[in-house]
Amino acid sequence: AARNGADAAALWRARIRDVPDHPRPGVVFKDITPLLADAEAFGTAVEAFADIVARHDVQAVLGLEARGFILGAPVALRTGIGFVPARKAGKLPGPVHREAYQLEYGTAEVEVQHDALAPGQRVLVLDDVLATGGTAGAAIRLVRRCGAEPVAFAVLLELGFLGGRERLAADFPDLPVEALLTS
Ligand code: PRP
Ligand code: MG
Repeated sequence: AARNGADAAALWRARIRDVPDHPRPGVVFKDITPLLADAEAFGTAVEAFADIVARHDVQAVLGLEARGFILGAPVALRTGIGFVPARKAGKLPGPVHREAYQLEYGTAEVEVQHDALAPGQRVLVLDDVLATGGTAGAAIRLVRRCGAEPVAFAVLLELGFLGGRERLAADFPDLPVEALLTS
């Protein structure tokens, strides 16, 4: 069993696989499926996110489709708070807030239902990977548009060389960015 934080981090790192040239030539994809398939790695990652929930007095977890769902739902359940999905455009029924973000080519959009969060509710935005920060920025804006309060952004893995942390700091200066791993 992972006895301490350093052991847990080493295990997570060992269970994230680099896949060269996926989904496009030149991109190294971070595949978290080996981590999800390992109960100890998955469980200790959920516990680490649960500590972040406690530290920031979080009242709801907003998970980003698709991999933020897999990580976010057990964190919400573990900490006794609700889970709210932020989905790619066109998936959620009813009135939604929508925010666009930049991709390498073109833009993408994410949505959250109008009534998904309560005014003033303290929300942790959670995803698997922080790359350019586009996805995270859109999700944070969605929380604000619901009248709720984004209190932190948490990821399993931050890709430091892509500058996402700096971009988020420019747009949301007081928002803590919590990465379980950085590469
Ligand atoms: C990936 C990853 C993050 C996002 C990070 O999701 O899961 O959500 O990109 O990139 P960014 O910081 O540059 O915005 P993707 O959109 O590929 O979809 P998926 O989670 O549905 O697989
Ligand atoms: Mg994603």
